[in-house]
Amino acid sequence: MICLTLSDSTLVECVKHVERNKKWIDMVELRLDFLTSDECAKAYLFPSMVDLPVILTNRRLSDGGKCRSTERIRRQQLLSAMDGAFAYVDIEEDVKKCELDDKAHSKGIKIIRSLHDFNGVPNDIYTRLQQLSKRGDVAKAAVTPKGIQDTITLFNAQKELEGTDKIIIGMGEYGTATRILYKRMGSMLTFAAETAVAPGQLSAKDLKELYHADEVNDRTAIYGIIGNPVSQSLSPQIHNPGFRAIKYNAIYVPFLVDNVRAFFVLAENLHMRGFSVTVPHKVEVLSYLGNITREVKQIGSCNTVVRMPGLWKGINTDYYGFLVPIEDDIENGRIKSALVIGAGGASQAIVWALKNRGVKVTILNRTLSHAKKIAVLNICSYDNLSNAASYAGKVDLIVQTTTVGLGSDESPIPNFPFTGNEIAYDIIYKPKMTRFLKDAKAKGCTLHFGDEMLLEQGKLQFEAFTGYHYPRTVHPDI
Ligand code: ATR
Repeated sequence: MICLTLSDSTLVECVKHVERNKKWIDMVELRLDFLTSDECAKAYLFPSMVDLPVILTNRRLSDGGKCRSTERIRRQQLLSAMDGAFAYVDIEEDVKKCELDDKAHSKGIKIIRSLHDFNGVPNDIYTRLQQLSKRGDVAKAAVTPKGIQDTITLFNAQKELEGTDKIIIGMGEYGTATRILYKRMGSMLTFAAETAVAPGQLSAKDLKELYHADEVNDRTAIYGIIGNPVSQSLSPQIHNPGFRAIKYNAIYVPFLVDNVRAFFVLAENLHMRGFSVTVPHKVEVLSYLGNITREVKQIGSCNTVVRMPGLWKGINTDYYGFLVPIEDDIENGRIKSALVIGAGGASQAIVWALKNRGVKVTILNRTLSHAKKIAVLNICSYDNLSNAASYAGKVDLIVQTTTVGLGSDESPIPNFPFTGNEIAYDIIYKPKMTRFLKDAKAKGCTLHFGDEMLLEQGKLQFEAFTGYHYPRTVHPDI
């Protein structure tokens, strides 16, 4: 079930909130602590105002809520609200058996017993959940994984607490994967917001329409992307609609990963079939692969890992994705020479790709030694970024691979005297129209955008994951 948390100050606003999200949710949580005191007094009416099961909650400040009342008043507010037909009431771990339990029983309201940890995942989480389950109908843990190791602990809850009705929610950025794959933790529900504001939170719309999180079952094949950061990745928008279009019971989830070795343990635990790899793990991942392609070996980095019988295989689809948009121009001889700006991980794959297709390459970089390293491996020339202008009019293609312009309006080669004959290609896709491309466009250059490369590398990845071509009917919103 997908449960929408309502954080409005009036019941009418809460109802509107539910209406706006209706098609994506199965349940709602009414938070008394967000309501004004007048509205709180009428909260018993709320279940009759919506036609979904409602969880009643009155969260204290110390548990991340907004209720500033005394404990006696807080419980009184819960008690009077329980005159309404709520499906569940949330009672915290430390609240001893009291009139709340009695009233819940008499009204047929199920009790969720909850523990909260904003600083980590308690070592004794399984024991505590077991104890909570004896004191209510459902045991709940809202905890904060601080790394992939904690994520593993949460996913293990499924087998450690088999048969226990539970809700587990991983807060913060490391919690995202657990919020999507809640069923794989054995969690009865996942919480959603209308718009994801807190780190790691997801919107009800994305949980339902992008991930189809509520349809995950034991047979669902799990794929994902590992990176740090990873929340900006658009790959879920490529793969999830693709899986759906070919009617493949599979899901693609972002995993924030601080420890690649630990992630491979999780990948085994979840029986993952494959995953994409992004910055900064593209090189480190090589140590854990049993088989790599010639391209991975020569480029020295891997962006795609697929499960093979008894081992993980690494492939690189970045170089291919980069080439697709310019393939015709290489083929017909329009591109014979290229300037590659930058000497980071992406540059490595691009220089290799261009050299492999017979293009003469010069690498320009701020730090000359980084450029030299890639140039020596690929047998090409290199120069200091400050000499960029001297290459004007001498190259057919200019590729921008640095991080300059990522989310800003800057170019690594400001005032570059484009002649207008160059093809300008930026691998940044946020923003799509970077300063580098704007400058090139102003001089009449042909442009290629980062989202073209992103989509093409994703399509090849999809083939590696599924054995099917990426469906033509799908046009990812990237
Ligand atoms: P990626 O793996 O995505 O290519 P990276 O490895 O961090 O990213 O590479 C970043 C590239 O952007 C490098 O070429 C870097 O130049 P240095 O090798 O000199 O560090 C380049 N870069 C980052 N900030 C830059 C800036 N302000 N001006 C010029 N180049 C910059």
